[in-house]
Amino acid sequence: MHLLEVRGLGIRNPETGTEWILKDVGFEVGEGEFVTIMGPSGSGKTTLLHLCAGLESPSEGSVFLAGKDLAAMKDRDRTLLRRKWIGFVFQFFHLLPDLTVRENLELPLRLQGEDPAVHEGRIEEILDALELGDLRDRQPHGLSGGEMQRASIARALAGRPPLVLADEPTGNLASRAGEETMRLFREVHRRFGTSILLVTHNPRDAAFGDRVLFLFDGRLDPAHALEGPDLDAASVFARLEELGI
Ligand SMILES: Nc1ncnc2c1ncn2[C@@H]1O[C@H](COP(=O)(O)OP(=O)(O)O)[C@@H](O)[C@H]1O
Ligand SMILES: [Mg+2]
Repeated sequence: MHLLEVRGLGIRNPETGTEWILKDVGFEVGEGEFVTIMGPSGSGKTTLLHLCAGLESPSEGSVFLAGKDLAAMKDRDRTLLRRKWIGFVFQFFHLLPDLTVRENLELPLRLQGEDPAVHEGRIEEILDALELGDLRDRQPHGLSGGEMQRASIARALAGRPPLVLADEPTGNLASRAGEETMRLFREVHRRFGTSILLVTHNPRDAAFGDRVLFLFDGRLDPAHALEGPDLDAASVFARLEELGI
């Protein structure tokens, strides 16, 4: 079973009702995979992640999360499935300003009705993996962008979801902090075995994945994917050139 399977997915622009934002998109993310989707601004990346998480409904096609067809589920069940299986990382962090780093991390657990004290060991391990030990009692406003993103990755991992969806996580960071953040995604992937689906417009970030898919004009052709030992930033740039993106 794939953790995430997307088949023939399409969604129309809700304003015009005719133009397609995404059309016939299909791919899957297997257990323990780190997949990136490279796409220019406006290509439909955020919309695609929202569809994958069941936050929006497609006009056609299906999303299977943990083998379950999202469209066939009641809203409540879909929300519970999402909370259990998915952690989200956003471009603009979305940390709660009045909570400390540690309290932000504990929040998803509380939402799942769990007592963070029971998960002390896990929280410590995550703080350690994301190099947040010294920042745990600080509030987000005192942190740099890179530190805020580290805290939000930690939060995404707190409920130990099998899959993390990341929407341009370096989009609001300077290049050095961006690279550091991508390195931490790889570390999280290695250390916790978390599957990752990360969308980006940055070819260097895309090259951190084990497999790179290309999205443009709302289309994603699996035949354009890159993977294997030769995958690096140069090969991503070359493929973009080839595709005229
Ligand atoms: N709710 C909406 N109403 C109208 N147009 C939308 C809506 N959401 C997205 N779009 C359009 O769909 C396209 C893809 O948007 P988006 O998924 O945000 O792309 P990306 O994240 O790759 O920049 C854009 O042209 C955007 O203007
Ligand atoms: Mg976007």
